[in-house]
Amino acid sequence: MKLYYYSLLLATLFFGCTTNQQLDPVEQKVEGLLSKMTIEEKIGQTALRGTSSRVKGDLPESLKEAVRKGEIGAFLNIMNTDYVDELQRIAVEESPNKIPLIFGRDVIHGFKTMFPIPLAVAATWDPKQAEITGQVSAFEGTSSGVNWTFAPMLDIARDSRWGRIAESPGEDPLLGSLMGAAYVKGFQGDDLTSKTSMIACAKHFLGYGAAIGGRDYNTAIIHDPLLYNVYIPPFKAAIAENVQTFMSSFNELNGVPASGDKKIMMDLLRGKMNFNGFVVSDWNSVTEMIPHGYAKDEKHAAELGTNAGVDMEMTSQSYEKHIKALLDEGKLSMDQLDFLVKNILRVKIRMGLFETPFRDKKHDGKLYAEDHLEKAKIASAKSIVLLKNENQVLPLTKNKKVALIGPLADAPLDQMGTWSFDGEKEHSQTPFSALKDHVIGFEKTLDYSRDKNKQSFSKAITLAKKADVILFVGGEEAILSGEAHSRAEIDLPGAQEDLILELAKLGKPIVLTIMAGRPITIGKIKDKLDGIVMAWHGGTMAGPALKEVLYAEMQPEGRLPVTWPKTSGQLPYYYNHKNTGRPAMEEKFVSMYDIPVGAWQSSLGNESHYLDAGYLPEYPFGYGLSYSTIEYSETKISSTQLKEGEELTVEVTVTNKGEYDAVETVQLYVQDVIGSITRPVRELKDYQKIQLKKGEQKKVTFKLHTDQLKFYNRDLEHVLEKGDFNIWLAPNALASKPVSFELL
Ligand code: NOJ
Repeated sequence: MKLYYYSLLLATLFFGCTTNQQLDPVEQKVEGLLSKMTIEEKIGQTALRGTSSRVKGDLPESLKEAVRKGEIGAFLNIMNTDYVDELQRIAVEESPNKIPLIFGRDVIHGFKTMFPIPLAVAATWDPKQAEITGQVSAFEGTSSGVNWTFAPMLDIARDSRWGRIAESPGEDPLLGSLMGAAYVKGFQGDDLTSKTSMIACAKHFLGYGAAIGGRDYNTAIIHDPLLYNVYIPPFKAAIAENVQTFMSSFNELNGVPASGDKKIMMDLLRGKMNFNGFVVSDWNSVTEMIPHGYAKDEKHAAELGTNAGVDMEMTSQSYEKHIKALLDEGKLSMDQLDFLVKNILRVKIRMGLFETPFRDKKHDGKLYAEDHLEKAKIASAKSIVLLKNENQVLPLTKNKKVALIGPLADAPLDQMGTWSFDGEKEHSQTPFSALKDHVIGFEKTLDYSRDKNKQSFSKAITLAKKADVILFVGGEEAILSGEAHSRAEIDLPGAQEDLILELAKLGKPIVLTIMAGRPITIGKIKDKLDGIVMAWHGGTMAGPALKEVLYAEMQPEGRLPVTWPKTSGQLPYYYNHKNTGRPAMEEKFVSMYDIPVGAWQSSLGNESHYLDAGYLPEYPFGYGLSYSTIEYSETKISSTQLKEGEELTVEVTVTNKGEYDAVETVQLYVQDVIGSITRPVRELKDYQKIQLKKGEQKKVTFKLHTDQLKFYNRDLEHVLEKGDFNIWLAPNALASKPVSFELL
C-alpha cells in the first residue's frame, strides 16, 4: 500500500469520520460494482462529456452509443429533457453495469429566476440569502434534469480587475466560508437523493482567485500559511457542509498546475481535509497542462491528472484516450484508477441514482414562480450597498421629480450578470419598469455601458432640467465581468463619466446607481454625486429591489464584501493586509504634489503608500451606510487578560440617531499584534446584523473564544500564540479605535 493510503487511513481515523468502511453499505456497494467493471467501464466513469452551454441541438448518435458501452460517466450542458431521459435510460438499461449518469451545468446564481451575482449575495452578509439562492436555483434547475451544479465558487478574490470576482464571495475568509457553506446547504438540501436538489461543487481548488494582476487563468503564487489562513477556509466550510464534489482549477499554484498537483488533490484535499466525494477537472484543465509547460503531451497530462487524484475529466478526453496505455506502461496503478472510480461511484450512490435514476417528470421547477421572484427581489434588495448620501438626497420621496437616465436603467440582460445561461431577459424587471410611475421621464442616452456616442446627451439634459433629482443608472454590462473578462481599468466604461459631468453642470443632485460585477472606480465623478448606490448585477428582480431601497420601502443594508479601490492602480487591495515595517499613516503621507521640484532623493517621509493615490481605499471592506445615523459606543471587553480555552465577552452599544429604521452590521475584528509569522492588521472574526428602529439603542454582545485567535504558522500548525491582541467592534474594517487584551 502506498504511503498516501496509509495517511488517508490515519486521517480518517484521526478526524473520526468514517469508522469502518467495510461495514458502510455505500462502500460495500462501491466495491461490489467495481469488482464487476471492466477497465473500459472504469475509464468511462472518469469522462465528463457534453456540449458548450449554448448548444441545444440534436443529440449525436455517437454519444448514445458511448453511453451504451459505458464510456461516459457524466454529462454537462445537456439542456433537453428528452435527451437527459434517453441518455439516462440507455445508461441504466443498456450499459454493462447499469451505472447511472450525472448531469451537470453551471447553475450559479439562478436557473430561470436569476438571483444577484454571488459577490452581491456576499454583500448581504446574510448566509440565508445564499442558501435561498442555492435552494431556488436547484429547485428550478432540477426540472431540466440537471442534478449537479458547478457552484459555489469559493475563490477568495483580492483584485477587482479579475472578472470572476463577480462569482466569488469576496475577499474575506470568514464571510467566504459562511457563504460557501450556505450555498452548499441550499443547493444540496438535506437529502442528497431528493429530485429537487442538486449536488454542489466547491470550486476552484486551489488559488484561482489569486491570478496575478487579476488576469484570468493567470499564475497564482501563494505561500503556504496564506493558503491555509485565507484561501482554504471556505473550502473547508463546504466540506463540513457535506459538499459532494470539488473542481480543480485552471491555474498553476506555486509552479504546479492544480489539475496535476498531487499534493493539493491527494495530500491536502483527501488527506488533511478528509474530502471523500469526487474531484472534476475544470474545462480542459487537464490538457491545458501542456501549454502550462507541465505536461509534454495529452498522455502525459492524463498521467499527471489521474495520479494527482483528479477523478473526472471535463470535456478534454485525455483520460479516455490514454488511461489504458498508462496502466499497461505502469505509469498509473490499478489502485489509483480504482480510487478515482470509487470516488465517483460513491457520490452516485449517495444521490440515490441507482434506485431512482430519472428526474421527476412531474416536477416543473415552478419556473419564475411568484415566491421565487419575491425571494430574488429580497436577496437583491439586501445586497444593495449605500455608499454615499449627502444632503439627504436619499431616500427619494414621491413628491420629488426624478429624471431617470443611464444605460443600465433598462438593460434586462445585463442586470442578470455573469452566468445567466438559462435566465431569460424577457422576465427581467428593470429599474425603468419598476420606477416608471415614480419618474418624470427616462432617457437611456447611451445604448449600452461602453457606448461612446454622445449624440443623445442633449435629450438627457433637457429631461434633467425639469427634475429635482437625477437618478443615473450606469455601470458595466454583464459581459464585462465573469470568466475571461478581466479589466485593467475598472471605471465606468464608454461615455458615462462624460455624461455625468455634463449633467452635473445643471447643479441638481445626482444619485448614481451602479450595476456591475465588481467595484467601479469613481474618482473623476465622485464629488459631483450626492448619492452613490451599489446595486451590483442584481438578477431578474433588480428593478423592484432598487425601487424599494431608493424609496425606503426596504432599508439599505448591504455591506461591501470587498475593498473598493480609488483606482485600479491600487490593486490587489484588501483590508486584512500586513502592517509592513513602514506602515502608511496620515502623519507620514507625502503627496507627489507636495514634493519640491528637484528634491533630493530620499525615502524619508514616505511609507508604504502611493504618492498619487495615497493608502486608503475609496470605501473599506465592510462599509455601507443606512439612511439613519448610527452611533457606536466604545467597545467594552470583559477582561484584559484571557487564557487558552476561555471566552472574552465583547460589547458595544449601537444607537440609531436618525429618522429611519435601520439594519446595522456590527463587525468584530481582531489583530494579533506580534506573531511567529506576521499577522494581518485586522481580521474579521464575527459579526451580527441587527435591526434598529428609529431612535432605538441596542447592546450588542459577542463571545470571542480563544480558538478564533488560532492561525496556521510557518510549519502549518494551527496555533494559538500568547501575547497582545487588539479588538474592534466597528461598522467597517477602517472604523473606530481598538481595545486591547492579552492572551496569557
Ligand atoms: C470553466 C469555469 O472555470 C468553471 O467554473 C465552469 O464550471 C466550467 N467552465 C463549466 O462550464
